[in-house]
Amino acid sequence: MKIYNKKQKTAIITGASEGIGAAFAKLLIKKGWKVIGISRSSSKLRAISNSIPSNDQSFKYFPCDVQDFKKLKSIAKEIEAPDLLLLNAGIYLPVNASENNLDIYKKHMNVNYLGVLHSYEAFLPSLLNKQNGHIIIMSSISGWIGLPKAAAYGPTKAALRSFAQSVRYDLNPHGIKVQLCSPGFVDTQATSINDFYMPGLMNVNEAANLIFKYMSSNKFEFSFPLSFSVFMKIFWYLPDKISSYLIRKFII
Ligand SMILES: NC(=O)c1ccc[n+]([C@@H]2O[C@H](COP(=O)([O-])OP(=O)(O)OC[C@H]3O[C@@H](n4cnc5c(N)ncnc54)[C@H](OP(=O)(O)O)[C@@H]3O)[C@@H](O)[C@H]2O)c1
Repeated sequence: MKIYNKKQKTAIITGASEGIGAAFAKLLIKKGWKVIGISRSSSKLRAISNSIPSNDQSFKYFPCDVQDFKKLKSIAKEIEAPDLLLLNAGIYLPVNASENNLDIYKKHMNVNYLGVLHSYEAFLPSLLNKQNGHIIIMSSISGWIGLPKAAAYGPTKAALRSFAQSVRYDLNPHGIKVQLCSPGFVDTQATSINDFYMPGLMNVNEAANLIFKYMSSNKFEFSFPLSFSVFMKIFWYLPDKISSYLIRKFII
């Protein structure tokens, strides 16, 4: 499948104002791409824009909440069809599931899952129109197995995994590549609230480099850091009796 055929490639990144999205945006710009960044905070997006040499038009941004489908569609009308769509915007809050968390559960579903669907539906028509493109959906290792305190976050990432697995069958025949990115722990403000040891915690620029490396591979799902993802895959394949025992013993 031939994906990149233009001179300057264009990427749309949701959640581009900080963390993994911002690091990946800066990396793509360094590699000669044009990036369209979407997230809520115009000041954070402006700061990224200001960090790029002023004669460089490589970063364009649109402050927008991914819960606002109407606004995403109006952005789609203003921009050229991208080569890459990184559906990355997301939130994370650990919860104690013995408490009332309905608002937190709904918020996670609205941003992490429906926010991806909104962005997908808003920008997909331009990819279908040119019968070419690449979509990377940002999931997480938390989507593989239910972990303590992840009752709000984990299900959204499991849903995204299933979504990505399914949509590729419809999109591949249109020349659109679909990949799922499932990181372990990456050092961002999102994980800075964790008060527990995060095995394999990875630097955000290292994570961006790995996304760049894997996006040209034929792997449907890619995960990092390798050691932690192999460990978690083993957990995933273990019988529930054993994996839940080990999680209780070593994680809680
Ligand atoms: N860090 C990790 O260990 C890790 C591991 C696995 C997966 N992930 C996933 O990777 C993605 C990025 O995580 P991160 O660690 O880089 O988090 P982060 O540093 O908190 O960045 C999150 C980004 O999403 C944007 N965002 C949040 N809510 C939004 C909304 N309603 N509409 C539009 N944009 C919104 C934020 O910008 P604004 O505040 O400006 O809107 C920000 O740019 C998330 O999907 C996360 O679940 C992270």
